[in-house]
Amino acid sequence: MSDDIKKGLLGIVVDETTISQVMPDINSLTYRGYAVQDLCEKCSFEEVAYLILNKELPNKKQLNKFIKSLEENRNISINLREIVKHMPKKAHPMDVARTVVSVMGLEDKEANDNSPESNMKKAIRIFSKTPTAIAAFFRARKGKKIIPPKKGLSFSENFFYMCFGSIPSKEIIKAFGVSLILYAEHSFNVSTFTARTIASSLSDIHSAITGAIGSLKGSLHGGANEEVMHMIKKIKKPENAHKWINDALDNKDVVMGFGHRVYKKGDSRVPTMEKYFKKVSKIKNDKKFYKIYDVVKNVMIKRKDIYPNVDYPTGPTYHLMGFDTDFFTPIFVLSRITGWSAHIMEQHAANKLIRPLSKYNGEKHRKVILLNQR
Ligand SMILES: CC(C)(COP(=O)(O)OP(=O)(O)OC[C@H]1O[C@@H](n2cnc3c(N)ncnc32)[C@H](O)[C@@H]1OP(=O)(O)O)[C@@H](O)C(=O)NCCC(=O)NCCS
Repeated sequence: MSDDIKKGLLGIVVDETTISQVMPDINSLTYRGYAVQDLCEKCSFEEVAYLILNKELPNKKQLNKFIKSLEENRNISINLREIVKHMPKKAHPMDVARTVVSVMGLEDKEANDNSPESNMKKAIRIFSKTPTAIAAFFRARKGKKIIPPKKGLSFSENFFYMCFGSIPSKEIIKAFGVSLILYAEHSFNVSTFTARTIASSLSDIHSAITGAIGSLKGSLHGGANEEVMHMIKKIKKPENAHKWINDALDNKDVVMGFGHRVYKKGDSRVPTMEKYFKKVSKIKNDKKFYKIYDVVKNVMIKRKDIYPNVDYPTGPTYHLMGFDTDFFTPIFVLSRITGWSAHIMEQHAANKLIRPLSKYNGEKHRKVILLNQR
């Protein structure tokens, strides 16, 4: 392949952004200039969502207004609830997530208004309603009654309530909120770039987020958190972990939850998530997963010098919280809607159609032979 081709856009800077900065050399990720670790310890997910969408951390009054608008927009239409109820029970929840956002676009009166004011209102609606639709499917596919959202609950509490009918301890809610903060934004990753590319044709926010969900689903991106859990389940017990991972590496398998396009010496989100994974393991009195986690991680670093990414600790953490494995990536969606929305608005504010070139190396100058002579 010729040198002027940058397959996978490796190392290519395509635009400017003020939303987040990934600095692999100092192992740091910042949202609007704030280190994520700091945000995780000092802020709620709602504060961080506000920051990503509005560029500044909110004061109390701004936060209360934001929370109120989220609560007011949580209900989904009867039409959407019926659609979710009748979706195939075996459908992958990521396909459900992609479809429900698309349906919300059909129902949104401002669907084709790309003004900043309209985009912000639509972002809030998508951010508020998607958890309701996802939780509805979580229950509907098990034949359980759908639980509507409840006012007065935080984003995380409300999601647990809609899925399980109860709210876990403060520590579990904090761990879940931390995972949402860590998943909220990560510059020009595949799904965000997809969203920006769609928005760059002046298409609308529902279309861009629908496309982004399709992109996040893949196992090289968000889908990795589900794959991590499948791997841990296959390993079964800590005693098996050493042989399992060494065999996988001998076999030249790609090990999910490891490696990153940008971070080559470790994902800056991992230490924070690991801390909360450990806390949840302790609360649930289940050290098995953590032991398997450690063995696999140590072998990967020792043998391959490849470090975990954030999907590695989130997978087993969500499992311990009681979520079905195929709901892990949809949870990622709930959070990343904030980052995608901010990027779509940034793209619309200083738009340039995204249209790279390709190098043609197919057949050249062929004459068309008529059908009856071929
Ligand atoms: C994320 C990922 C796609 C990044 O890919 P990339 O930047 O294109 O890097 P490459 O795939 O070229 O990897 C470079 C080398 O490390 C190896 N490598 C990277 N990630 C690996 C993994 N998870 N397991 C085993 N080997 C891995 C590659 O095989 C390659 O080896 P080679 O040079 O001998 O061919 C890749 O690390 C991966 O597939 N990880 C697993 C999926 C995952 O966890 N995704 C979530 C990302 S947040």
